[in-house]
Amino acid sequence: MKHFFAPTSVAVVGASARAGKIGHDIIRNLQTSGFAGAIYPINPKSPEILGLKAYPSVLDADGEIDLAVIVVPAVAVLPVMEECAQKRIDSVIIITAGFKESGPEGIELEKELARIAKRGGIRVVGPNCLGIIATGSGLNASFAPVFPKAGSLALMSQSGALATAILDWSVQNGIGYSKFVSFGNGVDVGVVDLLRAWEDDPETRVIVAYMEGLPNGPEFMRVAKEVSQKKPVIVVKSGNTQAGARAVSSHTGSLAGSGEAYTAAFKQCGVIRAHSVEELFDLAVAFAYQEIPRSRRVAILTNAGGPGIMATDAVETAGLELAPIGADTVAKLRTKLPPASNFHNPVDCLGDAGADRYNFTAETVLADPNVDAALAVLTPQTSTQPYETAEGLAAAAAKYQKPMLACFMGGGAMTGAIDLLGGHRIPNYPYPERAVQALATMVRYREWREEPEDPIERFEADIEAVKAIFRSARAEGRVNLGEIEAREVVQAYGVHMPKSRVAQNAEEAARFADEIGYPVVMKIVSPDILHKSDLGGVRVGIRGRQEAMDAFELMMLRIRRYAPNADLRGVSVQEMVQTGREVILGSTRDPQFGPLVMFGLGGIYVEVLKDVSFRVAPFGRRHARMMIDEIRSAPLLRGARGERPCDLDAIVASLLTLSQLVTDFPEIVEMDVNPLKVGEPGQGAVAVDARITITEQSQ
Ligand code: ACO
Repeated sequence: MKHFFAPTSVAVVGASARAGKIGHDIIRNLQTSGFAGAIYPINPKSPEILGLKAYPSVLDADGEIDLAVIVVPAVAVLPVMEECAQKRIDSVIIITAGFKESGPEGIELEKELARIAKRGGIRVVGPNCLGIIATGSGLNASFAPVFPKAGSLALMSQSGALATAILDWSVQNGIGYSKFVSFGNGVDVGVVDLLRAWEDDPETRVIVAYMEGLPNGPEFMRVAKEVSQKKPVIVVKSGNTQAGARAVSSHTGSLAGSGEAYTAAFKQCGVIRAHSVEELFDLAVAFAYQEIPRSRRVAILTNAGGPGIMATDAVETAGLELAPIGADTVAKLRTKLPPASNFHNPVDCLGDAGADRYNFTAETVLADPNVDAALAVLTPQTSTQPYETAEGLAAAAAKYQKPMLACFMGGGAMTGAIDLLGGHRIPNYPYPERAVQALATMVRYREWREEPEDPIERFEADIEAVKAIFRSARAEGRVNLGEIEAREVVQAYGVHMPKSRVAQNAEEAARFADEIGYPVVMKIVSPDILHKSDLGGVRVGIRGRQEAMDAFELMMLRIRRYAPNADLRGVSVQEMVQTGREVILGSTRDPQFGPLVMFGLGGIYVEVLKDVSFRVAPFGRRHARMMIDEIRSAPLLRGARGERPCDLDAIVASLLTLSQLVTDFPEIVEMDVNPLKVGEPGQGAVAVDARITITEQSQ
């Protein structure tokens, strides 16, 4: 990828002498951005463009070409690519639109483009993109009208238009970049290549990305996890709404959109997700400018009561801690601050504080060993001196080498001070919540990096038994497994199910019920009936022989009447699991990431409140535990307000088992274990019902 970012020579194919043409702008950009290498305008009609000798084709250029920027109409791109291959150019940016984004012909054209590139050993950025900027080598191989200053952010964007908006905004706000890539359709170079290119790039401290989709989810997860260990990767992912009208047969399927899969995958590989471009830059600037705090303990400095309280609330909501201000620090603060000040966190030096008092407070608090980061809040009163305060803060942050974020709130009164802070790499946020969010994200990132590996455990499982069940269902032309078969599958993976036997007549039903012990549940067994209770095919709480025999006869009668063509295989008599909290576990297959496992509380919690969490399988014990903690109703499982706690270890074990099952069998399209009844700690969990849908072909 070196020639994309530090070429010694660049050809622009489709360069134009006519102002207003993209091929003209790119030459001018290369000339004005400080690029020191050779520039070869390529144009069959013009001998000279913008003072540079032009050539009819890359093949006519007298020197070697490291990078070609193609900006000819779509129909001319493939022949130009062939010439690039002949000239042994290994890196090409294709600005031209009109490929796969434009319909069937474009799709074919792009496929052919990929073939030529592969054959010629050419790496391609684009087509349909804005181009590349690399500030370190003064390279503006794009038609962006601005060139950002050098900095430590590297940005990749699937959208060229968004990239230009971001660039323009960045220039206005003094945000610097190391590299900037708009990769458009991503026929070749995409997110994963750029992560790899920047993971060890000394100019890049933070990688930021705007993405709409990924060609290969598992590969992204593997690479992003490695890169995130080295530097933060912050992503805005658009297109998060429920995936179209997909046919789903399970609860899990109906609750899992592509947004859930991305959210889970990002968590599992340490990628920091921003939910808007605004948040992307709130976070990126904090990471780029400041060191990551050593701990969650933060001090709030303020000259304003209200904003100080807002910051305090935000700190608590974000899971940070207000650093306890030491007695020595308080004593020192008392020597200079008015008695009405607040000497404890949030430290309030009052609204009439000038720069001297505010900066004395900042110095003193930052010196406290309990404080690992600071948020400096300032509002403009008559005696406030924003500029001098900013100077003092910058000096204090430099002296104590502790991360500092600022929240100078206001308008015109603050502008100069905010610029000064930016010059000292102290990011300023207009509201305390945004600053705290950035700080909390930094802390969480550190904690993620310091976590030990979450190993994937394997449990004993009867894989052959599961294969046989799938085979026999397919042999009968079915992809929906009946309850009995689904039970056998999860049991083969060691999940406990209630005792159960299938009776063929009323006498047998009564005998099995006697053996299992009352009360029992009776359910019709038929691969053709998915919603048994709708047809009167489920009876719970059967307490005696006669009731069991009557239930059998009645069920058979009803099913024969309401579903005369159903393949009836008897009635299952099951132990009735009476106690335990009902939870739901399930899995669905995400087109990008593969098996996605879901967890939630049963009943209305999942159906009405959609209170569920997801992970991409396989995952380890820590992520299984996080799935439980992430649902809003987790306190109920832990035992809140007189509720008995649940056997959380049993839930974790069930989640890990499910993770292994759906990883071992990619042919499981969807499944629910619903409900899993969980006893008190030590009592385990029992899967009362299960449902599985498989693919038509084995995989
Ligand atoms: N080799 C060299 N030069 C050639 C060749 C060739 N094979 N064929 C044509 N040229 C020259 C032309 O003669 C012309 O030069 P001239 O001005 O001296 O006559 C120049 O290349 C450009 O060709 P035109 O036919 O004038 O094409 P034009 O500049 O109008 O359009 C472009 C080309 C810009 C690539 C267009 O096809 C296109 O794709 N536009 C959309 C670009 C885009 O939006 N990309 C996505 C960006 S991301 C975002 O959304 C911001």
